[in-house]
Amino acid sequence: EKDGYDYFMLKEIAEQPKAVADTLLGRIDGSGVLSLDEVRISEEVLREVDKVVIVACGTAYHAGMIAKYAIEHWTRIPCETELASEFRYRDPILDRRTLVIAISQSGETMDTLMALRHAREQGAKVLAICNTNGSTIPRESDAVLYTHAGPEVAVASTKAFLTQLVACYLVALYLAQVRGNKWGDEIRDVVRELAAIGDQVRQVLGTMEPVRELARGLADKNTVLFLGRHVGYPVALEGALKLKELAYMHAEGFAAGELKHGPIALIEDDVPVVVVVPSPRGRSVLHDKIVSNIQEIRARGARTIVIAEEGDEAVVPYADHLVRIPRTPVLLQPMVSAVPLQVFACELATARGNEVDQPRNLAKSVTVE
Ligand code: M6R
Repeated sequence: EKDGYDYFMLKEIAEQPKAVADTLLGRIDGSGVLSLDEVRISEEVLREVDKVVIVACGTAYHAGMIAKYAIEHWTRIPCETELASEFRYRDPILDRRTLVIAISQSGETMDTLMALRHAREQGAKVLAICNTNGSTIPRESDAVLYTHAGPEVAVASTKAFLTQLVACYLVALYLAQVRGNKWGDEIRDVVRELAAIGDQVRQVLGTMEPVRELARGLADKNTVLFLGRHVGYPVALEGALKLKELAYMHAEGFAAGELKHGPIALIEDDVPVVVVVPSPRGRSVLHDKIVSNIQEIRARGARTIVIAEEGDEAVVPYADHLVRIPRTPVLLQPMVSAVPLQVFACELATARGNEVDQPRNLAKSVTVE
């Protein structure tokens, strides 16, 4: 059932273009209008939502962090993303106009389930984004939008993450559509580009050999750091999480702007730092700032592994290793920038002789709090 792959994780990484396409299927019509009939929360209720709260754990939490940028940008509804395990313990402010989105691959994560139960008790509406039909989280939610990743067997989440992003973008665009705000050219373009993203993921997958080689060369390192900004920040966190759980290495993700507030002290000779570079188009100020960060850490000895858009020449002089990703709209970049980080972690785990599909101490679904 591994279809000739050595590990389920490799198979699931390779399945991502299809998983993304399947999750989009039937949800956007030919003229770019979204129809999410399965979300049985009435348009009237959605129009009245005045706050969105996303709860999730682990990789799903990183998808939720990215979703916050998309939801706030396209809908202008305030959105916060919180670790499900923290949520109910701080007496969060929720009411009938709060939309809570619970993201979970398995649909059985106890922390997420307890968070959504708490939200419903306070009168909030709960929409689940879930990959497992009929699991507990969607059953206990007001509505569900299923991701169509197919079964994910490897403990480390990969294809579920990409489809969670797709589902979050669909919800964000649908909210914008229902509420009629900012429903202009930009959103139509994004809908079109979202439909093309599966092919871009396929393109990235076709260029991963240098990333594998690089990973093998770092097998004896103890630490890898990850930097990102804007939607690249959760991607950095996700890259670090993959490396912790698979390679058992000390891996930390930082918001690049925080470097000078502490983490830069960690930079020493030859420490590998993966930098997820925002598009030079779009928010170009951020791009320029991160290029300075790369210069700063390199001057202090870091080995820079730079993930940057095709055509971004500004990073070239400071990249010890350069990984190219296709051009995408700013908010969609995590769909392509996360892929090299998955491949990187998988290969490092293999090089270190670790059990890729079943990392030590971890379970695929965490059904205790
Ligand atoms: O099934 P869920 O999406 O609710 O699981 C949440 C986390 O336990 C999960 O994403 C975990 O962090 C993965 N092992 C990460 O690869």
